Amino acid sequence: AGTGLLDRHGRRATDLRLSVIDKCNLRCTYCMPADGLPWLPAAQLMTPGEILRIVGVGVRQLGVTELRLTGGEPLVRRDLEDIVAGVRAAHRDLPISLTTNGIGLADRAPALARAGLTRINISLDSLDAETFRRLARRDRLADVLAGAEAAAAAGLTPVKINAVLMRGINDHEAPELLAWALEHGFALRFIEQMPLDADHGWTRADMVTAAQIRDRLATRFRLVPHPGKRDGAPAALWDVHRAPSAAAPAQDPAQEPALAPAVGSGGDDEPLGTVGVIASVTEPFCADCKRTRITAEGRIRSCLFSHEEVDLLPLLRAGATDAELAERWRAAMWVKPAAHGMEHTGLDSADYVQPARTMSAIGG
Ligand code: GTP
Ligand code: 5AD
Ligand code: SF4
Repeated sequence: AGTGLLDRHGRRATDLRLSVIDKCNLRCTYCMPADGLPWLPAAQLMTPGEILRIVGVGVRQLGVTELRLTGGEPLVRRDLEDIVAGVRAAHRDLPISLTTNGIGLADRAPALARAGLTRINISLDSLDAETFRRLARRDRLADVLAGAEAAAAAGLTPVKINAVLMRGINDHEAPELLAWALEHGFALRFIEQMPLDADHGWTRADMVTAAQIRDRLATRFRLVPHPGKRDGAPAALWDVHRAPSAAAPAQDPAQEPALAPAVGSGGDDEPLGTVGVIASVTEPFCADCKRTRITAEGRIRSCLFSHEEVDLLPLLRAGATDAELAERWRAAMWVKPAAHGMEHTGLDSADYVQPARTMSAIGG
């Protein structure tokens, strides 16, 4: 596998996040402008064969051990099942996951599972139809809920649910979302909103922080750090227990009934499940990052927040060898930034320069 995708800060990228399309059928405010974006012409999208070739170079030459397909919204591609089946035929043991908004999954989950998909992450920020419509600018909550159930029924597990919280819009729903996820056996992760929106409306003060998310959950649950190694995963995991007294904040043991176990200790009760918190801004995990990205038009991005991209597709279309493609990929990753830069900005984001692409055009 050569030397792999090393960078000058000592990290090695083994997780490939590949975007199959820039289009999406939702318009979530933190990700895309209301009117959408100028979509890529079809001829600029990678074909299934080209995707297969790039994944092959990653796996055979560069030490890639995991693939995640992203968008835009990957289910907008009608040939997604073929892409998955092609990758699966070439790489029997490669974990292949999908990040999706869930629309259309109700019909397609069984075929995706048969094609060889391993598991699915679904974005869902609200269980209230009106709030969902306001956030995603489309009235599609029922499709997403049906999609999540179908993914679980098709065995695409664990089904993870990603929820971005926004102050005054859906942050009050955090405990309810968790109760719903536990009841359905979904692995819920709450995500700090990152400045990757089209309208540059993100502010540090408006962002719901990981600490605030945990406080919200503590009104109804008791969180205990989940044992085990995090190993570069974006989510910090917590075991979820029923709170001894409904309204007691987790930080204040004095308010709990005398016989309740101390906050932060496991107690004897079995956890109801786990919850993840992805604190990209306030508790960045860049130092352990294992990601390399390919955009839908075949450009290498070394980081979610990169300002530079390296084109792989023209080289591939011009007949480059696997070794030549691998070399370009390696060079692009070597200069991966150490971190996204938000950790140095104090309480505002004055020194942080947002990348030109919005989240939807990067693939999350
Ligand atoms: P698994 O944990 O393997 O299931 O995948 P994942 O969490 O990496 O994938 P997913 O696509 O579900 O992404 C979840 C969230 O992680 C996204 O919404 C982003 O907010 C965040 N995220 C993904 N990639 C990066 C990254 O490179 N850097 C940072 N800071 N955040 C990221
Ligand atoms: N900040 C944090 N997460 C985001 N996502 C989209 N935009 C943002 C943002 N600005 C999430 C989506 C999806 C994942 C791929 O990224 O909710 O779950
Ligand atoms: Fe929403 Fe994802 Fe579409 Fe962005 S790409 S608008 S987060 S569903």
